[in-house]
Amino acid sequence: MAGMDDSLEVAPAAGPLIGDLRPPGDKSITHRALILAGLARGQSRLRGLLRSADTDATRAVMSQMGARFERDGDALLATGVGVAGLAAPKAPLDVGNSGTAMRLLAGVLAAQPFESMLTGDASLSRRPMRRIIEPLGMMGADIEGSAAGTAPLRIRGQALHGIDYVLPVASAQVKSCLLLAGLYADGLTRITETVRTRDHTERMLPVFGVTLEGPCAVRGVAALKAGELEVPADPSSAAFLLAAALLVPGSDLYLRGVGVNPTRDGFLRALQQMGAALEIRPCPEVGPEPIADIRARYSGRLRGIDLPAAWVPATVDEVPVLMALAASAEGRTRIRGAGELRVKESDRLSVMTQGLRALGVPVREYEDGVDIEGISALRTAPLDAAGDHRCAMSFAVLGLLVPGGVRIHDAREIDTSYPGFTADLGALGAQLAFGAKAGG
Ligand code: S3P
Repeated sequence: MAGMDDSLEVAPAAGPLIGDLRPPGDKSITHRALILAGLARGQSRLRGLLRSADTDATRAVMSQMGARFERDGDALLATGVGVAGLAAPKAPLDVGNSGTAMRLLAGVLAAQPFESMLTGDASLSRRPMRRIIEPLGMMGADIEGSAAGTAPLRIRGQALHGIDYVLPVASAQVKSCLLLAGLYADGLTRITETVRTRDHTERMLPVFGVTLEGPCAVRGVAALKAGELEVPADPSSAAFLLAAALLVPGSDLYLRGVGVNPTRDGFLRALQQMGAALEIRPCPEVGPEPIADIRARYSGRLRGIDLPAAWVPATVDEVPVLMALAASAEGRTRIRGAGELRVKESDRLSVMTQGLRALGVPVREYEDGVDIEGISALRTAPLDAAGDHRCAMSFAVLGLLVPGGVRIHDAREIDTSYPGFTADLGALGAQLAFGAKAGG
């Protein structure tokens, strides 16, 4: 088989998608859990974690510095080194494609009594890091990136002091980076957001014994205690399955245990505005995050919407799949205030615009958004995901509606967040595979 082929072949749906499953664990929460458990003293028990290339990178970096992780049934037991117990790494710390890993770990490394180097792949090495270098510098950190303000980052650990910082970009990665650095700082580190971003770090810190001082403020701590945590299914991965069910006539899908944190639920709100038949049933609370079972049934063609700019931070990773849905919805969808999409794993506004246009969809691209005129008959074309997992999965679900199907190039990075994507969609009845026949 063409195991190295990085293109994903998707056949048009032959029938409804039917099934009941738990999407993979939440990527954002998994990164945070691995870092905090690795810094705690003693053994933490983590359940429902995501296994993927991105989260494996965070785990490997924590292991390189002395934390230990072992499987115990469906749980991961993490033996932390204590806040002051990290060992100096003997080699650069490579986080691959993961912006979350790089930005969060930089906050921890900035305060260690050793020098370290954070590196990543070509995509990550283009992404902006000044947004953490500058505020960490205000805390006393010594971090050097490239002249363009990108990775690799050379970090010479320093004694840090707290700052009062207003986030200039809506970024949970920056906020979390500074909170983690704040655990090592002298005095109070307080972050103020003008728009709320995902608050997983704030919710998780008390599990490891940290008391927040206000909504987003911490003081330096002498220790983190080991904790127990249940990680919800990732709403951002669930989004692709929900989209598939809402696109393919007759589909009926149950997704179990999905995170519905209000800082992440913009996509669900958008779907409801588009006329989707969704049932969201809250589950009993088992940890710091709200969880629900979600049923999605095909309910006819969706309607285009104006996505309120204020919803963008709570929808940020779902904008590509929302664009895919808009492509086949009735009427126009307008998205603005989404300029941050240009500095994700790819320039997502541009990659999605090009792909949708290739399928025959009229798209106007703006600096911070798009206008999409939905059409009822897509035409087939080769698509390019530009190495971006979320663009690849967005094209894949839309491909289910394309007569003749689609072939998506540079789609392997799906493994960074959802290695079971083709298997899960396949189990629901879709036909898709990597490296299928050439020229198909
Ligand atoms: C994340 C925050 C968001 C999101 C990313 C994960 C996190 O990035 O896009 O996938 O785990 O904090 P930004 O902080 O850059 O907005």
